Order: sequence, then C-alpha cells, then structure tokens
Amino acid sequence: MLSNFTVIGGKASEDLARKIAIRLKGRYVKSELRVFPDGESKITISGKPKNGKIVVVQSTYPPVDSNLIQALSLVSKARKYSSQVYAVIPYLGYARQDKEFLPGEVITMSVVANMFKATGATKVIVVDIHSKMALNHFKIPAKNVSAISELVKYFKKLKLKNPLVVSPDLGGITRAREFAKLFGTKFIALRKQRNKKTGNVIIKSVNQKQVKGRDLILVDDMISTGGSIVKAAEFLKKQKCRNIYAACTHALLIGDAEKRIRKAGVSKIVSTNTIPGKTGVVDVSAVISKAIV
Ligand code: R5P
Repeated sequence: MLSNFTVIGGKASEDLARKIAIRLKGRYVKSELRVFPDGESKITISGKPKNGKIVVVQSTYPPVDSNLIQALSLVSKARKYSSQVYAVIPYLGYARQDKEFLPGEVITMSVVANMFKATGATKVIVVDIHSKMALNHFKIPAKNVSAISELVKYFKKLKLKNPLVVSPDLGGITRAREFAKLFGTKFIALRKQRNKKTGNVIIKSVNQKQVKGRDLILVDDMISTGGSIVKAAEFLKKQKCRNIYAACTHALLIGDAEKRIRKAGVSKIVSTNTIPGKTGVVDVSAVISKAIV
C-alpha cells in the first residue's frame, strides 16, 4: 500500500528521487525538461500528485542556476497540490556564500533561502551543507542530514592498512572527527590557507611520523576544482604515506579535477549520489528518507 507521500524527481536527481520514493512507499512523479536555445528551462511534471505530502528532489550542482530554477519551479508546482512541500536539495549550491567575506559581497545563500520560502517550500532538507550557518538563512524549517555514516560503511569494506582520517583543513575537524569515530580510528587536520581573491590553496605542517606508511582517508564535504585535495595529497605523499583515498559527500569534479587528483596520488575518490557520477557510489536515500518521516 502506498503512503501519502508523492515524490517529484527533478532531472538533476532522478535516480536518487526514485530511491527515496521507494523507501517512503510513495508515489513517484517524473518531470520532463526541455532547455530552449536561449537557456530557459521548460519543466513539465508527468502525473498528478495526490494532496498528501509532496517531496521535491533536485540537487543544484552545475549548471547551478538552471538546476536551481528547476528546483524552485517544481516546488511552486507542488505547492498547487499540497500545503506540505518538502524541498530536498541533496547538494545545495551557494552554501559557501553564507556571509560577507569581503566588503561588498552579496550573501547569495540568503537570496536562495528566501526563494525556496517564496515558491512554497514548507521544509528544506539538505545533505552535508558546507556550513551550518547557511541553514540560518532559511526562514522555514531547514534540516541538514549527514552522509558520513554511509561513507564510513563503504570504507569499512576496504582493507586499509593502519588507516588514519585526515581533514584537509581545520574547518573540517568536526567532520573528520565524526568519520574517525564511526570508522574506529584516529584523525588529524592539516592547516590549509586559501587566498580569498585568487582561490589558491597552500598546505602547512603535519607531523610526518603520524602519516608515514599509513593508508589515509582525506575527508571533505565537497570536491569542486580539486584544489584542496590535490594540495593535501601532494603534501601527504611527500610525508611518505601509503595510499590516499578521498571521501566526500559532493563530488562536483569541475573540469579535469578527477585527473589532477589522481595525478596527485589519490588512489580512489568516493562520493555520494547527491551528485550523480562515476565516483558517486554511496547512496544517501536512506538517511534522507529518515529525515523526511
Ligand atoms: C572548503 O572549505 C570546502 O570544505 C572544500 O574543501 C572546498 O570547497 C573544495 O573546493 P576545491 O575542490 O575547489 O578545493
């Protein structure tokens, strides 16, 4: 018997949306997308949602703005059928723009949060948002779900030698600590410095004895250009570690990021299906569904 959930899958997250619908025992409504020559999105849902709870699933990875407008459009359509609309945005773009880092910068995260409320979302669910501060911009209930337990399950199946969890920066300490605790090992954090204007990254100091001969799991929330992971891996390789694995929730892998990460000495990149792709082997439908019910 079906529950009173209808799940609408946006084009950017079709497979994950179907998995969530199965877990919720809900109805699945597909969306169709046509992109006009000028770049406009034309979205059609191919079924009539029931008037129970409606869950819209759509990540906003690149093309970020197109996927965002599609997510908002689906939320607005869903609201015509129900007063309870959950916007599940597994990867939420703009979450890194949650404050004015340099004078004059627009806090676009706040604009995005307002748009979800304006189009009719009554709750927002995201996975491993870059900073919890970004959630404060939502004026409707907003929940962050962690994919770390699912990533850890994957890594437990690999036969790693004397593993150590490494955060590429001090900002990732909480994440690395949680990963290491569930994995049953220790963690360290590198000191990363990023030039706010150029985006360039440099890595500073680690105790060589801690990493020598060990398998390392570099844990981050996301890999975008790969700059952070590349710098960390090159640095750790010089400290004579054994294999390096990269674990992240969201693998954007812009341009030739994957190639550069491998060249820097990373044997395997493991990410989740918040962003579909070759590395997205860890399924987050269970943790998302748990947060919905
Ligand atoms: C930064 O603080 C984040 O946690 C990631 O490390 C960063 O966004 C990854 O970006 P990139 O791959 O471009 O270095």
